[in-house]
Amino acid sequence: MPASLSASPVLPPSFQAPIGVFDSGIGGLSVLQALRHELPHERFVYLADSGNAPYGERGDAFVIARTRAIARHLVQAHGIKALVIACNTATAAAVELLRAELPDLPLIGVEPALKPASLSSQTRHVGVIATRGTVSSQRFARLVGEHGGRAQFHVQACDGLARAIELGTEAPLPADPTATETRALCTLYTGLLGSFGVKTGQMDTLVLGCTHYIFAKDDLRSLLGPEVQLIDTGAPVARQTRRLLAAAGHLAPEPAATPEHAVAGPTQLQLMTTGSLAALQSAAQRWLQLPATCCQQADMPQQPAAAHS
Ligand code: DGL
Repeated sequence: MPASLSASPVLPPSFQAPIGVFDSGIGGLSVLQALRHELPHERFVYLADSGNAPYGERGDAFVIARTRAIARHLVQAHGIKALVIACNTATAAAVELLRAELPDLPLIGVEPALKPASLSSQTRHVGVIATRGTVSSQRFARLVGEHGGRAQFHVQACDGLARAIELGTEAPLPADPTATETRALCTLYTGLLGSFGVKTGQMDTLVLGCTHYIFAKDDLRSLLGPEVQLIDTGAPVARQTRRLLAAAGHLAPEPAATPEHAVAGPTQLQLMTTGSLAALQSAAQRWLQLPATCCQQADMPQQPAAAHS
């Protein structure tokens, strides 16, 4: 029924419900940014599991348990209409299992952008940086198998980099931007990968296979030079989310057809963390120019995930 003809301006719950987005920490904010751009009329609930981060070096059982607990919480306490797992590591470990457990919930995962990288690389040498959990997963091996015919992938697990980015965001901006742990780790890992550039045999493309790494873009850019393309997954994930919501008939209406109270106001965006609130506020301000008032402590039980579950 067109909203303008409705006596009561209340929309069906599936339209009004928020989209859940989660990551081990602040990395998924890069995906949230793309989602807000693609779907400006939607409500979002973002959960940063910073109290249990990083996921990348914790092992599958831990990551699966956390992903399950968070998905359950976002469904039960926030009534989400779709879930974006804005974390490559959690997607690799748990997306298939979660699909089987929550068959009615549109579920969108992220994975390293090997396909677009292999299609656009001119030198046909592509660097890939991601967490240890992601690069050692079966999903990643399958991706490499699917797209390895077009380009050679040079893969590096980056222990500690996501954590350094989290801590660096909380710290005051350094006087010397090259004297950070994030910069040191970027130098180490890109150095281990080999030679970047546009000459034959060099890697002309670097896939950012962890949602945190886009926040080290300035460091990576200055280390690799302007000709190397950095590829992340925010925009394609946002487009896929739109497609799935449209297919389910759950897209929020455009403003013209939407009652005013349903599109504006503080409930439009809620950011929560299981870790440091100051860190989330600082990340939201620094990377997304959002006010600290969008952020709050997560309203979910703080129990650590059982390693064996
Ligand atoms: N941001 C996450 C990813 O995309 C993981 C970072 C971590 O917690 O290790 O893989």
